[in-house]
Amino acid sequence: MASLLSFSLLSLFLFLLLPSSSATLKINPRRHLAEQEQKPVSKPPSFATTTPSEIPQACKATRFQDTCVSSLSKANVPPNPSPLQIIQSAISLSDANLKTAQSMVKSILESSAGNVNRTTAAKICMEVLNNSQYRIARSSGDALPRGKIKDARAWMSAALLFQYDCSGALKYANDTSLTNQTMSFLDTLMSFSSNALSMIVSYDAFGNDTKSWGPPKTERDGVWEFGSETGSGGDSGSWLRGGVPSNLTPDVTVCKNGSGSGCYKTVQEAVDTAPDNEWGSRYVISIKEGVYDEIVRVPLEKKNVVFLGDGMGRTVITGSLTVGQPGISTYNTATVGVLGDGFMARGLTIQNTAGAPTQQAVAFRSDGDLSIIENCEFLGNQDTLYAHSLRQFYKSCRIEGNVDFIFGNSAAIFQDCQILIRPRQENPEKGEKNAVTAHGRTDPAQSTGLRLSKLSDQWD
Ligand SMILES: *[C@@H]1O[C@H](CO)[C@@H](O)[C@H](O)[C@H]1NC(C)=O
Ligand SMILES: *[C@@H]1O[C@H](CO)[C@@H](O)[C@H](O)[C@H]1NC(C)=O
Ligand SMILES: *[C@@H]1O[C@H](CO)[C@@H](O)[C@H](O)[C@H]1NC(C)=O
Ligand SMILES: *[C@@H]1O[C@H](CO)[C@@H](O)[C@H](O)[C@H]1NC(C)=O
Ligand SMILES: *[C@@H]1O[C@H](CO)[C@@H](O)[C@H](O)[C@H]1NC(C)=O
Ligand SMILES: *[C@@H]1O[C@H](CO)[C@@H](O)[C@H](O)[C@H]1NC(C)=O
Repeated sequence: MASLLSFSLLSLFLFLLLPSSSATLKINPRRHLAEQEQKPVSKPPSFATTTPSEIPQACKATRFQDTCVSSLSKANVPPNPSPLQIIQSAISLSDANLKTAQSMVKSILESSAGNVNRTTAAKICMEVLNNSQYRIARSSGDALPRGKIKDARAWMSAALLFQYDCSGALKYANDTSLTNQTMSFLDTLMSFSSNALSMIVSYDAFGNDTKSWGPPKTERDGVWEFGSETGSGGDSGSWLRGGVPSNLTPDVTVCKNGSGSGCYKTVQEAVDTAPDNEWGSRYVISIKEGVYDEIVRVPLEKKNVVFLGDGMGRTVITGSLTVGQPGISTYNTATVGVLGDGFMARGLTIQNTAGAPTQQAVAFRSDGDLSIIENCEFLGNQDTLYAHSLRQFYKSCRIEGNVDFIFGNSAAIFQDCQILIRPRQENPEKGEKNAVTAHGRTDPAQSTGLRLSKLSDQWD
């Protein structure tokens, strides 16, 4: 059974984990009507003989200043560029190189038939790099032109994370020179993406006054960014206030009886009927009481999908994938994995039953921006809840595990949640450590972090 995490320990976590990301969690829940899929302009050969002095000035915002100056000097930056034009050029560089990385990964995949580990790594790369490309396109084509700097920060933070994930996946399959080459290419790509992101951060803080731009700082430098949440204790924006709306009408129903009762037998079948909607209305899936033993994926194209269960412990989605199995890595152990934005869930349990010996076995992986999860229960051992990327809000949830069981590189808020620690089984006589959270920020410019607030003290 789960043991209790003492409240004082939680207070400590609260103190340590309060993220710089709070400021980015101000959300406009109104969806845009049209998506501008502006492709960054491809680079014509540059005849510039000198680097405009604005470039080295703007590059002061970055961690890789030499790369920044040299790459932008060769890029298609207009004369007397504005700070925003420099940022857009930096994003275009990242985008162009990302496409090269994607074709390298495609070659790895094509040449890896029969090699399970490399095929797995390449497939994960394909998925996360596609996600990276989507976030980059939205940053430059949607967020920046509309002055939505916080969105641009959130999306470029995720774009960089996905590139890092690809490199991380290949590390376990680095047995050809193409893989090795791809990994060093990804390093360069990540420096471009980091540079673009860092400039966005400086632009957010100092606007067009590039003389004030400097490398990104975090809590470790004593810089705490509270933004619009200052003093309010959280809950800015209706995204955070709202939770899952209460009056949702189901579009489809899932039940154990299946089509005989006019419903789908599996959650995945119901998800597959959701439209590929860019900014459309919600697609509400009612999941009736029962245990659904399946792996569920909500793809990037399916936005605003809502899972409504009959309550924690009554509607249960269960799986048991673990990293010990061939072709499975942490990313795809998830029982439920969501990529689509605007995902919501209420009133259900998601679990991964892979037990001790402890191995990474994710119950829920979330990559949907602005997701809202309320009254849900997540059960597992190691790595239960993979709050992987982007902005996530968990309200009145119950999360149980033993090692690193809330992890990822998202900006996630947990409000009124219960966090329960399961004992580890392997060496009880030697004592054991249970790390509750393991946040994975890799770049100081990323606007990510975990915040545990108003944790429930009504423990089981
Ligand atoms: C694949 O990965 C597993 C787990 O890391 C390892 O045990 C196995 O030897 C690898 N297989 C190959 C062919 O490299
Ligand atoms: C990549 O993402 C786009 C959305 O931007 C989607 O339409 C497409 O199907 C994805 N491709 C793959 C291979 O996942
Ligand atoms: C791996 O890539 C690095 C960087 O490009 C290079 O220096 C090294 O020689 C490569 N190693 C192999 C075995 O290909
Ligand atoms: C990949 O493998 C090559 C050859 O063993 C090695 O030189 C290189 O350092 C490895 N790359 C990474 C990033 O681990
Ligand atoms: C920077 O200058 C541009 C062009 O004058 C303007 O459109 C933009 O709003 C300015 N940005 C900020 C943050 O003030
Ligand atoms: C499922 O089928 C059983 C037996 O036919 C029936 O009693 C029950 O009401 C059905 N449940 C649903 C949710 O349709």
